[in-house]
Amino acid sequence: MASTLPPPDDKPYGHPTRGNTARFRLRRVDTFLLLYDAGLFQSRNGSFFVDLGYGAEPFTTLESAARLRRINPRLPVLCVEIDPERVARAAPYADDLTLFRQGGFNLPLEPGETVRAVRAFNVLRQYDEDQVITAWRTVGRCLLPGGLLVEGTSDPTGRVWVANLLRRTESRLHYEGLLFSTNFRWGFAPEMFQPVLPKNCIHRMLPGERIFAFLDAWKRAAAETAAYQSWGLRQWFIASAERLAAYGFPVEVRRRWLRQGFLLWKDSPGASEIPL
Ligand SMILES: C[S@@+](CC[C@H](N)C(=O)[O-])C[C@H]1O[C@@H](n2cnc3c(N)ncnc32)[C@H](O)[C@@H]1O
Repeated sequence: MASTLPPPDDKPYGHPTRGNTARFRLRRVDTFLLLYDAGLFQSRNGSFFVDLGYGAEPFTTLESAARLRRINPRLPVLCVEIDPERVARAAPYADDLTLFRQGGFNLPLEPGETVRAVRAFNVLRQYDEDQVITAWRTVGRCLLPGGLLVEGTSDPTGRVWVANLLRRTESRLHYEGLLFSTNFRWGFAPEMFQPVLPKNCIHRMLPGERIFAFLDAWKRAAAETAAYQSWGLRQWFIASAERLAAYGFPVEVRRRWLRQGFLLWKDSPGASEIPL
């Protein structure tokens, strides 16, 4: 994947794209984030949770703010959109903890402001693949060390999605894993994730690519464990993940996660360290 120099910081980096969103679409992303790293959101250090590219209406952002504030009532949330009309439309929903600003991957931060986590969902799908790493790096430079970037793609309802998890270290972004999520409403088959692979993976479903090998192995694991279907889709999903682990793939096999339809592949489909 090509990587270009990050753009200058003085204007929003990126371009407006379709603003499609839906109520509750990203609910499971919040659920996962709280399973994955509740401590990051509990910290009272005053740094932002950023929702980057919230779309034509600020539903998902406001829902996330409410959900994450269940564990940290004073969590500051910065909602960023590159389209100024969408920012203006959201303005009536602002309050002292919920800010709406126009901006791009180079987040519109004021001096002294910091960021603990960024969610960017259904944003990069509308960019070219060779812009992904530059976008990640640009966001990554705005995160505090230890901060998290979750960047992914979902179906229109949020029932099925796949996301990259990247952690900021002092000088890099460390790729922590690729997360596959389903609430089982559309059934279960590893193939169902292919249309919602994030931009860095979607064009890589080719022999020789790591994402291709992973999904191919998961299809094999699902076929070999198909008898578990009679115990329900969740049991089948769990059995297929355990089979993947038995093949040697580093997947998270915590039952609590799998039962909820979260499979984390703790490896990278591409580079595992991205210099900032
Ligand atoms: C499809 S909507 C996604 C809305 C919401 N995140 C969701 O998943 O339902 C994508 C939004 O990202 C915005 N966008 C695209 N590039 C951006 C960038 N570089 N910075 C901020 N917003 C961006 C677009 O203007 C658009 O409103």
